[in-house]
Amino acid sequence: MVKAVVLGAAGGIGQPLSLLLKANPLITELGLFDIVNTPGVAADLSHISTPAKVVGYLPPDDGLKKVLTNADVVVIPAGVPRKPGELIVMVTRRDDLFKINAGIVRDLATGIATAAPKAFILVISNPVNSTVPIVAEVLKKHGVFDPKRLFGVTTLDVVRASTFVAEILGDLSLSKSVAVPVVGGHSGVTIVPLLSQSSHPLPANLTTDQYEALVKRIQFGGDEVVKAKDGAGSATLSMAYAGAEFAAKLIRAIGGEKGVSAPTFVNLSADPSGGEALKKELGQDLDYFSTVVELGPEGVAKINTLGSLTDAETALVKAAIPELATNIQTGVSFIASPK
Ligand code: NAD
Ligand code: LMR
Repeated sequence: MVKAVVLGAAGGIGQPLSLLLKANPLITELGLFDIVNTPGVAADLSHISTPAKVVGYLPPDDGLKKVLTNADVVVIPAGVPRKPGELIVMVTRRDDLFKINAGIVRDLATGIATAAPKAFILVISNPVNSTVPIVAEVLKKHGVFDPKRLFGVTTLDVVRASTFVAEILGDLSLSKSVAVPVVGGHSGVTIVPLLSQSSHPLPANLTTDQYEALVKRIQFGGDEVVKAKDGAGSATLSMAYAGAEFAAKLIRAIGGEKGVSAPTFVNLSADPSGGEALKKELGQDLDYFSTVVELGPEGVAKINTLGSLTDAETALVKAAIPELATNIQTGVSFIASPK
């Protein structure tokens, strides 16, 4: 019996994500919450012949509390997406969304802290590098933070890496089986694909320019979609696919399946050894990082180290750290010392 909840369920990501969760036979109850339209989305999904009972809630009459009651897994895609104009705002990139989304995520996290403190929380709202620390700080304030249960969803970067590598290998049918660890965070240079560890090696004749273009495409895949949508938002369908994939893995792991792992952005204190080995590898005392995480009944079972890197990958990791550290601090400060 698994109750999954989507906060922001009527949005561009929320609707297809809710559809994919409704199609997951392991989910027996699906709660949908948004500030608009959830009764309609829920009515529509409820006609699909899969086990999950679907109910939609709006803010009046304690809707947030009601949807979160007895939730096992809470996925948060609530918030505003980027606009094309924001493409050229370099350096901060997704941080332009920060003010609006930070407030939304803080309020939803407050609801979770009181109504579903034991739930597994999957944060999609951008900027993930900051919104995950925001959720953690809110949970800490309420004395219910369990780092093993909080995840920043970076699966879209992993999905893109699989697809783009399969494209380069000239066989898209491989994309489901190509596995590339993508580590760091979720924005621009903080996205670090470890292509040397791809399950399917890159062609031996790939030039340095081609390698660099591939890395850049994975790091800035979001820009490609924002530009193509031309004002109509950012990635929604591929994100819904990625979010549902990660949620499905977690649900299998909390149900007792062994050997489930995925890259995800986590608080390193979730690791039984406090993530010390990873911090040593990074040469930096970061509190959060995305890397391959082994999942188990309690959520995070083990946070893997990066393993052997090429010189180019070492340089990418080094380049990611300053922006990542700033993004994390921005999230922490939003709760610790709100302006
Ligand atoms: P959208 O505008 O289409 O949908 C967002 C939804 O959130 C809307 O339905 C809105 O009503 C709802 N919402 C706003 N405030 C809310 C609140 N307080 N409580 C509940 N719901 C609320 O946007 P979208 O395209 O679905 O994107 C959502 C977020 O996901 C954005 O921040 C975007 O940047 C992010 N995103 C993340 C990734 C990732 O890889 N992690 C990928 C794509 C998009
Ligand atoms: C993405 O990677 O597509 C999302 O984070 C959305 C964005 O703004 O790029």
